[in-house]
Amino acid sequence: MKALEGVKILDFTHVQSGPTCTQLLGWFGADVIKVERPGVGDATRGQLQDIPDVDSLYFTMLNHNKRSVTLNSKSDRGKEILTRLIEECDVMVENFAPGALDRMGFSWERIQEINSRMIYASVKGFGPGPYEDCKVYENVAQCAGGAASTTGMLGGVPTVTGAQIGDSGTGLHLAFGIVTALYQRTHSGKGQRVSCAMQDGVLNLCRVKLRDQQRLDNGPLKEYSQFGEGVEFGEATPRAGNDSGGGQPGRILKCKGWETDPDAYTYFITQAAVWKNICDTIGKEEWKEDPDFATPDARLPRLNEVFNAIEDWTMTKTKFEVLEICNPLNIPVGPILSMKELAEEPSLRETGTIVEVEHPERGTYLTVGNPVKLSDSPSEVVRSPLLGEHTDEILREVVGLSDNDIAAARDEGAI
Ligand code: COA
Repeated sequence: MKALEGVKILDFTHVQSGPTCTQLLGWFGADVIKVERPGVGDATRGQLQDIPDVDSLYFTMLNHNKRSVTLNSKSDRGKEILTRLIEECDVMVENFAPGALDRMGFSWERIQEINSRMIYASVKGFGPGPYEDCKVYENVAQCAGGAASTTGMLGGVPTVTGAQIGDSGTGLHLAFGIVTALYQRTHSGKGQRVSCAMQDGVLNLCRVKLRDQQRLDNGPLKEYSQFGEGVEFGEATPRAGNDSGGGQPGRILKCKGWETDPDAYTYFITQAAVWKNICDTIGKEEWKEDPDFATPDARLPRLNEVFNAIEDWTMTKTKFEVLEICNPLNIPVGPILSMKELAEEPSLRETGTIVEVEHPERGTYLTVGNPVKLSDSPSEVVRSPLLGEHTDEILREVVGLSDNDIAAARDEGAI
């Protein structure tokens, strides 16, 4: 048995945030029924296509372990079928623009009337308030949730991150909400509404930056490089470049080959507890007892000097040699790994984090498997469905339609 076996998910999601959520539920064994518009489908099927007329990697990599049913939920027949699906499913997930399901005639009140055990989960860009009607995409959420204003180099423009914290991050939050509501339903017998706004999800991931905002009231943020550089703090948490977010100063430093390899860098943290090991490693034994360098507080105004000396050493080693030398000494470092290196990393293949998938139209491609490993519910990655691949089987098995009913619905353009 998989952890969520027996749970039926009515998946009205599209693009990235919602599909991330339902893919996770699918990996844990839920039966995910993805509803798509006939002839159109999730818009990402056709976005960033690398092979003409073949589902894009954007779509395939976010829609594993799902079945696809096509349904025009604005037609009368489509509404009847959707009503039956709501009766049969445990969870309904959607990330339409605000109000879209209400306009279809399926408000939360109506959904509860149809099935009081239904857990109805939504991603929206913003929660209730001045921006609740806005359509929102990834980078808008990163900007509105505090990530962009705190990312980038001091003095540079606000910067978005490659990690999709707005879309995939909110999808993760939503999946957690759904599983929590399923657990509560085991006691209450009732469904409930689960909402997660992308702005809120991003802000939650930027929690430490709101921490720093409040610390600013009581003095400068001494672990930020700008403190040592004598640059005054303004009113808001500043961009901190590659400074470490915690109390232990860290930076990205050049390694051997940086002149030609854009990823020949290492992260290096000057963990206070291993300062003496760092001094020995980089050939600065005298700093162990020097009052200007021996304590964390003494080093804070001199971080540039400290990291320049460490970088003089890291530039003589590859990023992997830095790791091999520092790890046994408990000095926290991490090579900057490119997507190419990650795609080729054998240990990630072995754990199922990087998976090769076979697709009937595209051939073999790589994807990221389930990053959450359950010892009693292993995840296997099943290729994404073609548009409407499971329409007939779902209408027969879940909705209970006869072959004649299915043919009639098809003639009417409802499926
Ligand atoms: N049958 C009939 N109509 C369908 C349908 C179906 N199976 N599936 C979707 N539609 C309709 C919707 O009802 C909607 O119609 P309406 O505008 O008349 O009410 C229409 O298709 C378009 O849906 P919408 O969600 O508005 O798509 P969009 O392309 O205009 O906007 C987003 C895309 C992502 C900006 C928007 O959905 C959004 O803001 N979502 C919430 C935040 C979010 O998740 N953003 C991140 C996405 S990764």
